[in-house]
Amino acid sequence: SPEGPGFGRCPKKSKVAGGGTRSEDWWPCDLSLAVLRQNGESSNPWDAKFNYATEFAKLDVSELKKDLTELQTSSQSWWPADFGNYGPFLVRLSWHNAGTYRSEDGRGGAGMGQQRFAPLNSWPDNAGLDKARRLLWPIKQKYGRKLSWADLMVFAGNTAMENMGFPTYGFAFGREDTWQSDEGIFWGSEQEFFPSPNSNKDRYNGSTDIHGRAKNLEEPLSAANMGLIYVDPRGPNGTPDPKASALDIRVTFGRMGMDDEETVALIAGGHAFGKTHGAVSGDFIGPEPNAAGIENQGLGWKNSFNTGVGNNSYTSGLEVIWSKTPTKWANEFLGSLIHNNWTLVKSPDGAPQWEAVNANASYPDAFIAGKLHKPTMLTSDLALIHDPIYNNVSKTFLNDFDYFTEKFALAWYKLLHRDMGPVTRYLGSEVPKDEHLLWQDPLPAASYKTIDDADVKRLKKDILSAPNVNISNLITTAWGSASTFRISDKRGGANGARIALQPQRSFAVNNPERLAVVLKSLQAVKDKFNSANNKKQVSLADLIVLGGTAAVEKAAADAGTAIKVPFTPGRVDTTQDLTDVETFAYLEPRSDAFRNYGHGNSRSLTEEMMVSRAALLTLSIPEMTVLVGGMRALDANYDGSAFGILTDRPGQLTNDFFTNLLDASTVWSPVADTNGEKFEGKDLSTGSPKYKATRADLIFGSHAELRAVAEVYGSGDAQDKFVNDFARAWVKVMDLDRYDVR
Ligand code: HEM
Repeated sequence: SPEGPGFGRCPKKSKVAGGGTRSEDWWPCDLSLAVLRQNGESSNPWDAKFNYATEFAKLDVSELKKDLTELQTSSQSWWPADFGNYGPFLVRLSWHNAGTYRSEDGRGGAGMGQQRFAPLNSWPDNAGLDKARRLLWPIKQKYGRKLSWADLMVFAGNTAMENMGFPTYGFAFGREDTWQSDEGIFWGSEQEFFPSPNSNKDRYNGSTDIHGRAKNLEEPLSAANMGLIYVDPRGPNGTPDPKASALDIRVTFGRMGMDDEETVALIAGGHAFGKTHGAVSGDFIGPEPNAAGIENQGLGWKNSFNTGVGNNSYTSGLEVIWSKTPTKWANEFLGSLIHNNWTLVKSPDGAPQWEAVNANASYPDAFIAGKLHKPTMLTSDLALIHDPIYNNVSKTFLNDFDYFTEKFALAWYKLLHRDMGPVTRYLGSEVPKDEHLLWQDPLPAASYKTIDDADVKRLKKDILSAPNVNISNLITTAWGSASTFRISDKRGGANGARIALQPQRSFAVNNPERLAVVLKSLQAVKDKFNSANNKKQVSLADLIVLGGTAAVEKAAADAGTAIKVPFTPGRVDTTQDLTDVETFAYLEPRSDAFRNYGHGNSRSLTEEMMVSRAALLTLSIPEMTVLVGGMRALDANYDGSAFGILTDRPGQLTNDFFTNLLDASTVWSPVADTNGEKFEGKDLSTGSPKYKATRADLIFGSHAELRAVAEVYGSGDAQDKFVNDFARAWVKVMDLDRYDVR
């Protein structure tokens, strides 16, 4: 809102549950485990048996489309439709849902329907979209559990584009709703929203570009300012410099995994529709939804000028109309952009925008028939001709409308589906058939029968007796394969055996030399089995996970606890050609506490990185704890080092990590010159060195809540529980990407 966000502005702080001065106020640097507690079953109103795919199967998509089509041209008096058509508004809704995605951590995006919750529902860039969601409510209400908000918010824009004459590439349903704001997403550190100059104060560092713009945008952010989806439409921080805007656009759209051609297709394609809203001064605009009075019922940005709606409406404070045909798919936007000459003017709200020099007023008014406007553009639109590469792409698109249409359809499809994970998650009859788009991380279909229980038993024996493998390296290999999974965009995981391909096989955390040895042995087991069988085959992907299963069972038995670890075969091996090396590089962990790899940096502590990683693996606090303790017992450090191996029988699945960590007879002290990352444990009475450990080890003894869980596993009666919990958490991680069998 124009008043800025609510830091320190809340007049009454609660004095009942949840209020008062809290531990996080007293000790703001304490490790927060909140991200591991979110999305708990108790906050989910559906019962435990609810299955979205089953419910969705009952949805009549053609009826839904009919309803959306009718809604599109049924203007409501409380928020009248420009040109009598909500289509462009709904396209912007879809785009702003999907556009928060960033490749580096896979977070953001449309997949969880997060725009319903703060902060996104109140981001200045999402102004007005509260009304778009409210327009959709009767449809959501009608279909209830059969249709998630997350699906509806993107499907609405997709359908709107089809209704405006755009041939989309297809659409997949399957986004499940969440019930709270995702606490795992780092949106930046600034305490002011765009358009304050402070809204990008903390996200740039390093050198400046030729326009004096700082160019290193903090990772993993993909927006130029706090509260924006991508870039400032007025130009960087309100400076109407199209060339500088292009640099911002390239960085931010690049962070989302879009190349130059896709970027131009998206912007030029999107702005083929609709208009911007800034007919009045921003002084008339009330607070955003999360700060608005209770009587506003979740709506915000109330406009007190005149009717406050229709021709008085205010969203971005810019007043631009891009095309003669704002509700029809056509090449008018690019034609206007390239053929006109532009001069800087001001919107009624005083914001910089561009008007065509000497052009006739020929663009329609949104409400008054016969009233015409001059062509206008945003600074960010002009970036598409001022940057030489974008300029080339724009001209190619203008000269070949079919090519532009095809590229925009593909980029739009990618935008909306980028964070959905394996195509086995895609639902509905509009999913393109037989597609193999590289960003979908394709897996070939198996042309053979998969292994059965008897094979599994035999193969486990074969693996354990294979040369050069042992408990430790079978565990690190299986973990390295499966733990690349991230729930944010559901990429990674063991299926496909991409750990045997680039770039994963070269990730430092995988200890490439040792990995190569294990893969060679497993490959030999695979070759032997497959050459002895005809129709039945085993994949390397299955063998890698099975190696871990065999190792856990053996390590548990060696520790005196017999256990059968469930194994679900059916993974396939993919190929290097079907692997997007560039974006898979984002899956390389900077630290992996489970294998004691890497450490904190100026942005986050080692233990914070551990929690963030555990969150991407959907682990609970006990699961994270038991996995770290178990991995230490199994001697599974990435480099074979002794850090955290608090046992004299490494390779056995014992609870020694916890018993020895909690034992007061070890005195810990930081090792000099390790930045507080490494520690040495000495015997209290003799002073002789006993153990070495990292922050990722000691946090389980120092953090009160983690210690409480560590005590459960370090108790005298805990060995069996420890082994069983470890095995369950282990299998969970191995199967995180198995949407094909869920
Ligand atoms: C509207 C900026 C990319 C689709 C707008 C508005 C702004 C804007 C300021 C006006 C909002 C209002 O006042 O109502 C930008 C910037 C972009 C960008 C800076 C990136 C550089 C895109 C993309 C799409 C898109 C990628 C879709 C593929 C739309 C549509 C509207 C719109 C359809 C019209 C909404 C309506 O008529 O109500 N955009 N946009 N934009 N944008 Fe974008």
